[in-house]
Amino acid sequence: MTEKLDKVVTRRDFLNQVGKVGGAVAVYGAMDSLGLLGSSMFANAASFNAPKKSDLVMANKMGKKVVILGAGIAGLASAYELSKAGYDVHILEARDRTGGRNWTVRGGTEETEINGVKQVSKFDKGQYMNAGPARIPQHHVTIDYCRELGVELEAFTNVNEAAYYYQENVGPLSNTKIRKREIKADTRGYVAELLSKAANQTALDENLTSQDIERLTAYLTRDGALNSSRKYTGTSYRGYTELPGAGLKPGTVGTPYKFSQILESGMMNHISSEYSFDQQMMVFQPVGGMDSIPKALEAKLPGKITFGAEVQEIRQTSDGTRVVYKVNGKTKEMTGDYCICTIPLSVLKNIPADFSSEMINAMKNISYAPTGKIGFQFKNRFWETEDRIMGGMTTTNMDINQIWYPSYGYLSQKGVVIGYYNFGQAALDLGNMTIAQREKHALAQGAKIHKSYTSEFENSFSVAWHKIKYNEGGWVSYTASDRQNYYPILNQPQGRIYLAGEHLSYLTAWMAGAFESARVAVTQIHERTLQENDSKVKAG
Ligand code: ALA
Repeated sequence: MTEKLDKVVTRRDFLNQVGKVGGAVAVYGAMDSLGLLGSSMFANAASFNAPKKSDLVMANKMGKKVVILGAGIAGLASAYELSKAGYDVHILEARDRTGGRNWTVRGGTEETEINGVKQVSKFDKGQYMNAGPARIPQHHVTIDYCRELGVELEAFTNVNEAAYYYQENVGPLSNTKIRKREIKADTRGYVAELLSKAANQTALDENLTSQDIERLTAYLTRDGALNSSRKYTGTSYRGYTELPGAGLKPGTVGTPYKFSQILESGMMNHISSEYSFDQQMMVFQPVGGMDSIPKALEAKLPGKITFGAEVQEIRQTSDGTRVVYKVNGKTKEMTGDYCICTIPLSVLKNIPADFSSEMINAMKNISYAPTGKIGFQFKNRFWETEDRIMGGMTTTNMDINQIWYPSYGYLSQKGVVIGYYNFGQAALDLGNMTIAQREKHALAQGAKIHKSYTSEFENSFSVAWHKIKYNEGGWVSYTASDRQNYYPILNQPQGRIYLAGEHLSYLTAWMAGAFESARVAVTQIHERTLQENDSKVKAG
């Protein structure tokens, strides 16, 4: 796109302006002008504030248009950041809503899966399920965007010691719902006992001094709740069969399971997933549904989104980009100086585009993860009244994988439970069932854990993400060799077309990946604009 030089702000002008007002260090000027300085881990509210006055004076003169494909988190965040910096942005979105995979299902929500039948949610008013992202770790940049956009958060109970492990075909502990705290305390206790024994039988002498061993033993005794003979015989960490009370009720601690039985059950293998970096408490959710985030971004972009716009072609021109799309049956085109394409690779690979052969090959070779969820509306919150489980999740080796109890509406009457959230083969198997079969299958498995599951059931809504149009997968699934061979190619712009989305990050399957990659694309475009303006001035 051409423009008059007097309208163009140069890199030099820009840095001078930033420098005059804020005394900014020039080298970080471009990033600073976008409010993107600093990594998310260390970001504070200030770095996400609206652009400074000087930036806006500068940015309004950018005169560059960026066409953004997709109004999911990456597309919305790109548009939001670019428009804050004065770029002209427009989003083409195939659906009639924003959010992409950030999708909250409420009463009336409709969806027809690929080769599937239409579902219409019958959830009551106020009941909902987050079909896609459902939790936000406290270190993710998503939290900073919620702060800036005024999205109210509440705690999401990601780990609840009162929820269950339930395994089938795993020896004596099969088909027994066991509170997570019991398995955790018993496993720790036995491991502590063994380690304490080894430490005191000179087995660890090579690595530890006698004083180290003394301290280690003291730690193991406390951590594993060992007795004075350094044996694990049970602990209140694992809870009580009869709770302590008033008067003459000291409570009764349950008897530990046998270590070999726990090992055979494999339940202890689930524990580590609860302390992986992104799953550690605290974890949050927006009040009222995850789609508060895209809605808040959308509100900042009035008139900037065309809905129902299906991208047909993505082309490079001599000085910009051209996107062909279909809306209301009509074929249209939109040109821009740049394009940010956030369409998932699973879909993008089938759209004709002016991409290099390496890029086309990379996209073809990258897989997306199958994953599914079902929301069950129950008449009564029996998990709270019968099981005393207030949020969190039960984990099982049945193909429902897990049951999530809602982290909102505690003590109210009804609730929507996630009856399965599964991956891999289990997701494919359930996804291949009819909607009614999925419901029946998941109800039958859940009923093995909760006796009121079937009697309290009201209605359901299920999602197989690999069968959802415009997504065709839950999230990108890179192997180590994909990261080495293909990922660098995806990170290179194709002319003036930049990719963004969770697939352009090391935070795959998280909204934070989409936000962070949007920030990268926006920064790269801004840098390039400044450099090109600079060259134009020099040439003139
Ligand atoms: N980030 C996704 C989750 O938390 C995979 O379930």
